[in-house]
Amino acid sequence: MAHPPILVTGGAGFIGSHLCDALVAAGRPVRCFDNLVTGKRANIAHLEGRPGFTFIQGDIRAMADLRAALDGVRDVAHLAALGSVPRSIATPLESEATNLAGFLGLLEAARAAGVRRIVYASSSSVYGDSPVLPKKEGTEGRPLSPYAVTKSMDEAYANLYHRMHGTEVVGLRFFNVFGERQDPEGPYAAAIPKFIRAFLRHEPPRIHGDGRQTRDFTYVGNAVDAVRCALDAPLAAAGEVFNIACGTSCDLLTLVDRLRERLAVGDPAVAAVGVEHAPERPGDVRASLADITKARDLLGYVPRYSLADGLDRAVPWYVEHLR
Ligand SMILES: NC(=O)c1ccc[n+]([C@@H]2O[C@H](COP(=O)([O-])OP(=O)(O)OC[C@H]3O[C@@H](n4cnc5c(N)ncnc54)[C@H](O)[C@@H]3O)[C@@H](O)[C@H]2O)c1
Repeated sequence: MAHPPILVTGGAGFIGSHLCDALVAAGRPVRCFDNLVTGKRANIAHLEGRPGFTFIQGDIRAMADLRAALDGVRDVAHLAALGSVPRSIATPLESEATNLAGFLGLLEAARAAGVRRIVYASSSSVYGDSPVLPKKEGTEGRPLSPYAVTKSMDEAYANLYHRMHGTEVVGLRFFNVFGERQDPEGPYAAAIPKFIRAFLRHEPPRIHGDGRQTRDFTYVGNAVDAVRCALDAPLAAAGEVFNIACGTSCDLLTLVDRLRERLAVGDPAVAAVGVEHAPERPGDVRASLADITKARDLLGYVPRYSLADGLDRAVPWYVEHLR
């Protein structure tokens, strides 16, 4: 019998569009759902018209949209959210409406539709002010931003729905995902695409603070693998949350050096571009490094791409698309 479609919310976004690519390549029917607030039709244009792929423009804050999208769906990969810590500090009500109320709406609509499993994106930001390194599930601190609060609450609801209704909800705490199609534009853009864009313009990338803050940068191919592992994982994964990362950390100044080296190969002038330091940002975490043992043991997740592998893939894409 043909597989029922997988609903990918936020499927026209950065991680979502890569997930749609992988699922379509594996022959799985995909229903991509997105309101295009930060996602782009261009991210999935190459999939439109492929057998089994459909796009629905809709909003997770609208129950009617969710009900229609969930018709006949067995599994959901829920990636729709408003990302960015600074955005959530500037407009907390918007972040709350999409990331928390939207998620609760999805849990309710999925329950009514008889969905089997929901794999959803949480975030490393739930570790907040915890000084524990590496970050391990069960050592969360106090959230440092409204974004982190929404993701912590999502985890609480997911666990509750699993215990209360038996919904198979699996949470993935992504750590600083990067790769092709991550948007470099706008005030809430992530660090790697912003740094690359600056170098390509021969402008110094702006680093908040001293640049010695560390991150566990995770190539998008690893995040996609993790979602696929979680969709197929044994029932013991339901109600649980998992760190999804590379399992190595790098500080921002080192990251910038690695980007500069790669970009200078095609454009020697980049080698002379320095960095600009700006004040630290509220809500930013100082050090981040994930322990990924739990995801390896329960989901069978093993990162296939190192930071260097990911940069080798992502940098040429930006050179081609931003020039
Ligand atoms: N990129 C990262 O480093 C990272 C880290 C931790 C967690 N996450 C989480 O992973 C998920 C995907 O992030 P991303 O980096 O691909 O971001 P993204 O902004 O590229 O993707 C999010 C998608 O959700 C869509 N969306 C937003 N609000 C919606 C709504 N109300 N209804 C329908 N669609 C809506 C957007 O249009 C966009 O396509 C998010 O839940 C994010 O919080 C990302």
